[in-house]
Formats: sequence, structure tokens, C-alpha cells
Amino acid sequence: MSDIFDFESRNDDYAVMGNPIAHSKSPVIHSHFAAQTAEAVHYTAIQVDPGGFAQAVAHFQATGGKGLNITVPFKQEAWSLVDSMSLRAQRAGAVNTIKFDGNTLYGDNTDGIGLVNDLLNNNKLVLKNKNILLMGAGGASRGVIIPLLEQKPAMLKIVNRTADKALDLAHQFADMGTVKGSGYEALDGEQYDVVINATAASLSGEVPPLPVNIFKSDGVAYDMMYSAEPTAFLKWSALQGVKKNIDGLGMLVEQAAESFYLWRGVRPETLPVIEMLRQEIIKN
Ligand code: ATR
Repeated sequence: MSDIFDFESRNDDYAVMGNPIAHSKSPVIHSHFAAQTAEAVHYTAIQVDPGGFAQAVAHFQATGGKGLNITVPFKQEAWSLVDSMSLRAQRAGAVNTIKFDGNTLYGDNTDGIGLVNDLLNNNKLVLKNKNILLMGAGGASRGVIIPLLEQKPAMLKIVNRTADKALDLAHQFADMGTVKGSGYEALDGEQYDVVINATAASLSGEVPPLPVNIFKSDGVAYDMMYSAEPTAFLKWSALQGVKKNIDGLGMLVEQAAESFYLWRGVRPETLPVIEMLRQEIIKN
């Protein structure tokens, strides 16, 4: 009798894998989602050594795990590992969510839809027919291109210090919508409705070399990074007179919500979790 009870009351195991992982907010986000939706989810963080990723995934699956989030530096390796994946993951070249389906691994990339949901639902923006500038041509940028293009902007411009990388990325996604690439110097005289920072510049407190007057009069600045203080880019954009300066905390929670939905078929409410994390970040 007690065995049956234990079996029935056991939560399903999920985890985030990365390196480093100690500061990941995913366990607290998913625990809140689970409590809010009454889903039987148990979620932990697992630090994986370089070279040990495939083995760690196999072990997690063999011990009954149901799904994983994957973060730096394993998103590309996860892409190579899965048996099948969504189009957005396929084209992003990176997988941040794995669902175990029997013996097969299904991969998705929820970063881009997380960004778009934060822009549309939490910040009430419209992207259709707008001019969007996406800074950076690394993995963070690549991961959000398809969901942005799905909003049918008038134009998505990818800009990068190394212009060739931006041109190459734009070329790779040309079949999905109006997307162009350039270096920063070519931005002179151009203006955008939404400027998104997907570079690593904020990590070192730097601001990408944007010209002044890059924002349209109601222009919006979005940094995919977040911190207690506004990032260097968001401080700069505020000084340019931008009223809506948004950091990536909402995107973090929204990408988690999309993973949760993929695993459980239930959509958690994100606003209370974003608010809770905001308070926590300010306090620490
Ligand atoms: P990720 O996978 O997080 O996107 P990445 O592949 O290392 O990381 O890419 C980092 C991106 O940030 C690149 O587009 C890089 O520009 P370059 O390709 O020209 O190096 C960009 N980047 C880093 N520091 C920057 C800075 N100070 N100003 C502008 N762009 C910067």
C-alpha cells in the first residue's frame, strides 16, 4: 500500500544543466510555476563538467527525469544531441529545452518566444510593421530571429561590430522575412522603433557603438541581460530620452513558462513571478 502511495505522490523530475549553474533562477521560477498550477514538478540545478554533457543527460533520463533546460555552454551540444526538434530550435542552432518522450529526446528553443511574449504581453508593444534593430550576431541573437520575424516587422536589422557576421546571419534567415545585416557605422541616419541588445557588452559594462538619434520618438530599448541596476545600455538609452527601457528579466521568466508549457501542457502566470524576482534582485 505504502509503495503505491509513494509512487503516486512522487513528483516528476526536471532540471537545468549548465556550467556555472549556482546562480540560475530556473529552479525558483519553475517551483513557483509548479505551486501556482498544482503540477507535480520537482526542479533542480545540475552543474555539468565540460565533456560530460551527453552522459549527464543520459543519466538524468535513465533515472526517470522528464525534461531539461539547457544553458551556457551546452545549448549547441544539446542541439546536436536531440533526436528531433522544433523549427525554431533547428534554425537557431541551439536547444534550451529538452522533453523526454519515451526513449527519444525532443528539443526546442524558447528564448525567442520568451522575448516576444515579454515585449507583446508584458510590455504591450506591437512589432508588426515596426523597424527593429537587433544588436549582436552570436548565439543570443540567432536564437530570437525567427520569433521576431514571425511578428512581421517592416524590417529586422542585425548589427554587429564584426559586420560580416551580421550579414551572414541575415542571409541565413532571408527566407523567413525582411532581415538585413550591417556594421554599426552603417546605422548613421537610421532610426528604429525597438532596439534590442543581444550582445555580451552589458557583461563588461560597455555600450555597443550606436549613433545618437538611433531611436524613433517613441522608441523602446530592450536589453536581454538584467541586473539590479539598469544595464549600461539601458542607462545610455534613458539618457537618449527613451521612456521605455526594459531589461531581460521578463524574457527569462517567459522562456521558462514556454518550457513549462511544452512539458506540462499548462501555461503558468508569469507576471507574479517576474514581480517576485524583481523584488529579490533589488534586495540582494
Ligand atoms: P552569445 O552566444 O551570448 O551571443 P557570443 O557568441 O560570444 O555570445 O557573441 C557575443 C556578441 O556580442 C557578438 O556579436 C559580439 O560582437 P563581435 O562578433 O563583433 O565580437 C558582441 N559584443 C561583445 N562585446 C561587445 C561590445 N562591447 N560592443 C558591441 N558588441 C559586443
